Amino acid sequence: MKKFFILFIACCALISVNAQNSKATVTVDTEHSQSTISKHIYGHFAEHLGSCIYGGIWVGEDSPIPNINGYRKELVDALKRLKIPNLRWPGGCFADEYHWMDGIGPRSQRPKMINTHWGGVTEDNSFGTHEFLDFCELIETEPYICGNVGSGTVEEMSKWVEYITFDGESPMANLRRQNGREKPWKVRFWGVGNENWGCGGNMTAEFYADQYRRYATYCRNYSGNRLFKIAGGPNVADYHWTEILMKNVGGRMMQGLSLLYYTVPRTWADKGSATVFDLDEYSVTMQKAFYMEELVTKHSNIMDRYDPQKRVALVVDEWGTWYNVEPGTNPGFLYQQNSLRDALLAAVNFNIFNNHSDRVRIANIAQMVNVLQAIILTKDDKLLLTPTYYAFEMYNRHHDASLLPTRFSAEEYVLGNDKIPSLSVSSSKNEAGEVTITVVNVDPVKSMDMTCVLRGGNYRSCEGTILTSGKVNDHNTFEKPMTVKPEIMSGLRVVNNEVKFTLPAKSIVCLVVK
Ligand code: AHR
Repeated sequence: MKKFFILFIACCALISVNAQNSKATVTVDTEHSQSTISKHIYGHFAEHLGSCIYGGIWVGEDSPIPNINGYRKELVDALKRLKIPNLRWPGGCFADEYHWMDGIGPRSQRPKMINTHWGGVTEDNSFGTHEFLDFCELIETEPYICGNVGSGTVEEMSKWVEYITFDGESPMANLRRQNGREKPWKVRFWGVGNENWGCGGNMTAEFYADQYRRYATYCRNYSGNRLFKIAGGPNVADYHWTEILMKNVGGRMMQGLSLLYYTVPRTWADKGSATVFDLDEYSVTMQKAFYMEELVTKHSNIMDRYDPQKRVALVVDEWGTWYNVEPGTNPGFLYQQNSLRDALLAAVNFNIFNNHSDRVRIANIAQMVNVLQAIILTKDDKLLLTPTYYAFEMYNRHHDASLLPTRFSAEEYVLGNDKIPSLSVSSSKNEAGEVTITVVNVDPVKSMDMTCVLRGGNYRSCEGTILTSGKVNDHNTFEKPMTVKPEIMSGLRVVNNEVKFTLPAKSIVCLVVK
């Protein structure tokens, strides 16, 4: 009798929860492929900042931490599994103070410098051009180098390109050989300065556009290496910057224009904590994440006027969350935890980038290890994968697939006097004809009764992966590293080209329909 009563209560609870569910429909047109979703939208960024490079990626050859030629082995393995498409380096603000010649040759003889932006610590230049490019080879990713415009010279940048990419006899190519690398590297993505409206020189758009033209002229294509030159772009909603760059530089001299936008829950003076926040703060954070849609749309509209063929890519090469640093850590090191909220936010951004993949063709989360919205955190010899790592993993199937037209209907999520979308979606088809649909239920409380409708084709099976957790601030720690991790969804079926399932509150689901 008691057992029956418990069962009755449990059923009532289930029914009442379902009664709370909202309804949502996603409709995917599987027969009209749009732009290709470049895998480079899933790029990363590693700056000489805090323990991103030193202690994170690079532990040194003599470290007791297991390493491959100085690179942390466990991290190398995790990055290889993730198939990261490109890695931006050496900054950030650091890039415009970095003199690459200080980072080559025998490590013990390399000059030291002050890392003025990030904690005023001494940079010993032991991780330089060779270390970075060898690391890219090791983790099988494409390098994206950001050159120094702010405090460098045209000659310095031009020689860096020659050093890295020239195959013949030349002073720089010979110097590279002397330093142990016979063959040149291939480096396509080349940033001509960073944040040139701020830490990269405090320039006006007009002045920077002229500087860009000078610098870009002397960044040559050597030995079959074709540079994809990326101009330092606007700060968030500085549409004037985009206008001037498109007008004064245009599509002949630049292949990409960067865009920077960080999601800060509160203010720059008190950004909010990575893990201690209430539902209101969660909602504001997600609302600010959706602002990326407006930014990308408005910058793209300006670019369309000058470049209707969409030759110039919008390169969102710094995005992610920026919180107060973890208590007790160096404020200059930007070390923050990473919760389910970050994963949801990453997934919303991915859907925005996918849906704008005709223009957004490269993006880089800030940053890869131990800094800002990191996919990996390390402590001594320990390493953990954050919820954001898993969001990247779940979106891997979109790499270089064709975007599919996708509509959805869902209740909006009410936030004070505002409403924000409760759902974020994108879908794509790969060469094998498999359809991937990624959906995010942003609502922290309400689950959705979801119907995915596939228009066209004849689909028979569906696999799903879900990332969610009990609370939006759940996160992985070194003591409990598997608190937030993806799970396989069981029991998904395709009936008449439709897949029905419950999309829990605060969750990301990736469906693969065949
Ligand atoms: O990612 C941290 C910093 O944010 C970068 O160095 C800079 O470009 C931006 O302001």
